[in-house]
Amino acid sequence: MIFRDVYEPAEDTFLFAENLSVNQGETVLDMGTGCGILAILAAENAGSVVAVDINPHAVICAKTNAARNGVAGKIRVHRGDLFESILPDEKFDIILFNPPYLPVEADEKDIWIENAWAGGRTGRKVINQFIDTASKYLAKSGRILFLQSSLSNVEETMKRFSKHNLHAKKICEKKLAFEKIVLIEAKRSQGRSCAALIASDCVPHEMELEPCMHFLTNAKAE
Ligand SMILES: C[S@@+](CC[C@H](N)C(=O)[O-])C[C@H]1O[C@@H](n2cnc3c(N)ncnc32)[C@H](O)[C@@H]1O
Repeated sequence: MIFRDVYEPAEDTFLFAENLSVNQGETVLDMGTGCGILAILAAENAGSVVAVDINPHAVICAKTNAARNGVAGKIRVHRGDLFESILPDEKFDIILFNPPYLPVEADEKDIWIENAWAGGRTGRKVINQFIDTASKYLAKSGRILFLQSSLSNVEETMKRFSKHNLHAKKICEKKLAFEKIVLIEAKRSQGRSCAALIASDCVPHEMELEPCMHFLTNAKAE
C-alpha cells in the first residue's frame, strides 16, 4: 500500500526492480526507500536490509509494507538524510538508490513528497551528496545500483563515481516521453587501487593483496 505523501512506484522503480539481483545472505542498504518496494524485493535473498528515507511518511509506509509482506524481521527502516543515520563503520554488499533527479527552480520543499523528485537547480543536489559519501559504506567487493535520468547529466555521474575510485557502467536504460532513465552499477576499481598501493609502497594485509599480487610483483620487479 502507498500512503499519502509517499512516492508511488513508477517506471524508474520498475526498471530498477526488474534488474535487481541480490545474492543469498548479502547485506543491503536501500537509500530513499519510499514505500519500501526495493527493500522488500531485496529481502527475499538478503541476509539483512537497512531502508532509509528522509520522509517520515515513507518510513511508516515502508515498515507497514515490510510487515504485510512477512519480511519485517529482515528489514530495519529508519528516517535519515542520506547516510546520517547509518553507523560510521557499517558496510553493505549492495547499496541501492533511486534518487530525486529532476531539475527544479525552488530549493525549498513545501510537502514531504517533493523530496521524491526535487533535485535542486541541476537535478544533482542529492545525487552528488550520495556519490561523495557512498563508498565509505560499501563493502570491499560491494556494488552500488543507482538510477538516473538523462535530465540530470548521466555522464557527470559516471565521472563522479570514478573520482571516488568506483568503476561505473550502465546496466540498462529505457526511453520515456521526455527523458531516458538509466540504471548504473558502480564497483571499486581494482586496477586503480593496485596502482595506488604501488605508489604509496604500503603493504596491506595478505588477504587484501591477493587479487593484486601478480600485478604488484611484476610492477615492483621492473
Ligand atoms: C524517486 S523516490 C524512490 C522511492 C522508491 N525507492 C522507489 O523506487 O519507488 C526517491 C526517494 O528518496 C527519498 N529521499 C530524497 N532525498 C533523500 C535524502 N536526502 N535522504 C534519504 N532519502 C531521500 C524520497 O523521500 C523518496 O522516497
